[in-house]
Amino acid sequence: MADLKNGAVILAGGEGKRMKSSMPKAMCEVLFKPMISWVLDSVERSEAGDVCVITGHLHEKLEEYIGDRCKTYEQKERLGTGHAVMQAREFIENHSGNILVLNGDAPLMDSETIRDALEYHINFDNAVTVISARVPDPTGYGRIVRDSNGTLLCITEQADASEEVKKINEVNSGAYWFKSDVLLGMLDKIKPDNAQGEYYLTDAIKLALKEKMRAAAYTAKNPNVVLGANDRVQLLELNEIVRKDVLKRLMLEGVDIPCTDGIIISPEVEVLRDTKILPNTIITGKTKIGSGCVIGPNSKIDSCTVGDNTILKNVDAEKSEIGSGVDAGPFVHVRPDSKVADKVHLGNFVEIKNSVIGEGTKVSHLTYIGDCDVGKGVNFGCGCVVVNYNGKSKNRTTIADNAFIGCNTNLISPVNVGEMGYTAAGSTIYKDVPAKSLAIERSKQENIEGWVDRKKPYKNMQ
Ligand code: UD1
Ligand code: CA
Repeated sequence: MADLKNGAVILAGGEGKRMKSSMPKAMCEVLFKPMISWVLDSVERSEAGDVCVITGHLHEKLEEYIGDRCKTYEQKERLGTGHAVMQAREFIENHSGNILVLNGDAPLMDSETIRDALEYHINFDNAVTVISARVPDPTGYGRIVRDSNGTLLCITEQADASEEVKKINEVNSGAYWFKSDVLLGMLDKIKPDNAQGEYYLTDAIKLALKEKMRAAAYTAKNPNVVLGANDRVQLLELNEIVRKDVLKRLMLEGVDIPCTDGIIISPEVEVLRDTKILPNTIITGKTKIGSGCVIGPNSKIDSCTVGDNTILKNVDAEKSEIGSGVDAGPFVHVRPDSKVADKVHLGNFVEIKNSVIGEGTKVSHLTYIGDCDVGKGVNFGCGCVVVNYNGKSKNRTTIADNAFIGCNTNLISPVNVGEMGYTAAGSTIYKDVPAKSLAIERSKQENIEGWVDRKKPYKNMQ
């Protein structure tokens, strides 16, 4: 006998034609995260038990994204939500407690609602509990039909609804808790006898009631849990809801956002108090930002940690660590695997890639530093290049503390500049520079006196 484990089945086989996407619908993103991932996160957070996903249209893309996060079952043809659940029969048989079924395209279903609904389901010893919500515009959703006492009668799809039923504004979220054995029994009985010729999972309610089982609707406190997106316009609406929620939460935690225009911050991002976020700034991934920073305008920060009191204006930074008291921008690019220590200054048009920049180092303008370990207190003049690529391989360069790299220096990697080593402006350095010495690699200047008068190099010159 299988034990009384709970499990969750996420339906994500649908094509979502109206998205006009080359990806399955559940891969469409809300705040840069695929809808399926929102649903998986909520289910995992709710501790609903083991999870599986029903894939279908472009199943391999969904399977690739899910990886080994959970089991998947392919639905070879799309015959409706009831048919989709049938694909997980083996999974349901192995989880004989309660089964949560939910839609992979309703990203705002939250773990609290899932948990509260399970509590309700168990307390009332229901055979099935559907999660519903009251919404201002019920168009397109299945309607929760109750009798005059409020007892659940059935769920009627939009396509099958009378004008009277269409007026009901309590709708089916597409999420349900079933007793596992009840669900298995119902799957055998659902028939495609409706306007769309599909196996409707919603028929399980009607069937359960017919067999005098307890079926009820749990009305979610948060009506957004039902929201799905069928096209990109609705996707924008979902984005806006979550975007505003995140910004509101951050503001209430002490983050200063004087104008929310163009500010998009993923829910996982942490920002500490007294940091100011300015317009057109996108912060994603598991980014952590300290306090007293000014981020933006026009910055894009992905999966970075940023210390306190750091200024990032017009900065694009990815998968890097940026310390405290850093002043970067405008137009700075910090590429992956970089570590920018405290009090570093990165001025305009500076690119850092896979490099360590030591404390207090100044890189003021027009400089590229790639695959390089730079010590503390180093000064880069304007227009320096660490030449890290020779056409075949990438090499690493080291610059020790307090070195001074003159304007327009090329450092041909691999090369080492010692402590307090200087390079003269315009030098191409291909040999190590010992500590406290000056490397000068350029031809001596010669002044040819009277040359202009003799040569008369300009047009119309007398
Ligand atoms: C479904 C519900 C409706 C509810 C709505 C909430 C039914 C019959 N209707 O309608 O009452 O208000 O969700 O959003 O269940 N899917 C498959 N395979 C299929 C069909 C669908 O995996 O053959 C998946 C879809 O990818 C989607 C989910 O099931 O994630 C819901 O399917 P969808 O076609 O969007 O159902 P709705 O018509 O929206
Ligand atoms: Ca839908």
